[in-house]
Amino acid sequence: MRVGVVTIFPDFVKVIKDYGVIAQAVENGLIDIEIFNLRDFTTDKHKVVDDYPYGGGPGMVMKPEPFFRFFEFYNQKYGKPYVLLTTPQGKRLTNSFAQELASKEHILIICGRYEGIDERVSHFVDEEVSIGDYVLTGGELPAMVVIDVVSRFVSGVVEEESVKNDSFYNDLLDHPHYTRPREIEGFKVPEVLVSGNHEEVELWRRKESLKKTILKRPDLFMKHAFDDLDKKALIS
Ligand code: ADE
Repeated sequence: MRVGVVTIFPDFVKVIKDYGVIAQAVENGLIDIEIFNLRDFTTDKHKVVDDYPYGGGPGMVMKPEPFFRFFEFYNQKYGKPYVLLTTPQGKRLTNSFAQELASKEHILIICGRYEGIDERVSHFVDEEVSIGDYVLTGGELPAMVVIDVVSRFVSGVVEEESVKNDSFYNDLLDHPHYTRPREIEGFKVPEVLVSGNHEEVELWRRKESLKKTILKRPDLFMKHAFDDLDKKALIS
């Protein structure tokens, strides 16, 4: 998958490529992340990317010309991507939205700043994305969040089994996890996990997921489609 990002803070966004699972995916050629500095697409000496809003009011607006120039360059070099704009007014990012985005071959993320972007840039945008109902100082962190969550759904980046067991997959929260030692200061690992009985372990995990979801996210629990394992876990 190819991911492009255009921002006025490329060094800030760049760190997404340098750590953990994403760095590995980049190294293994599963994802190609390229970050562009919008200021490189200005033509004035001071590389200005914002201007006063027509009609007055507070704050500055990102100018359209650098974006128009950037798109001309980008589309010519890489072809037409699926273009996302990070904004609090966008569609809320969820696991299923991320999964949908991961099925695209090529996405480009535009990071907004200041009061907003000149509306005419929206002609290039396929979809607006929000990471939650709060306003950040810019679209860089949301772009990094989009890259992170989408990457996990790109085939080969993380084990498929791991994605399926994660919170929110099938509208259930993840079950508790334990590792060695078997006991620490009186706190023990549940017996069933060391029993060697895989069926029992699976049942216990599902039961814990269901319990956690009812307690912490009843809204999710109501959406969950129950299967045979759920039914078995609920009566066990
Ligand atoms: N830009 C500022 N706030 C944002 C948010 N919550 N989601 C996406 N982009 C944003």
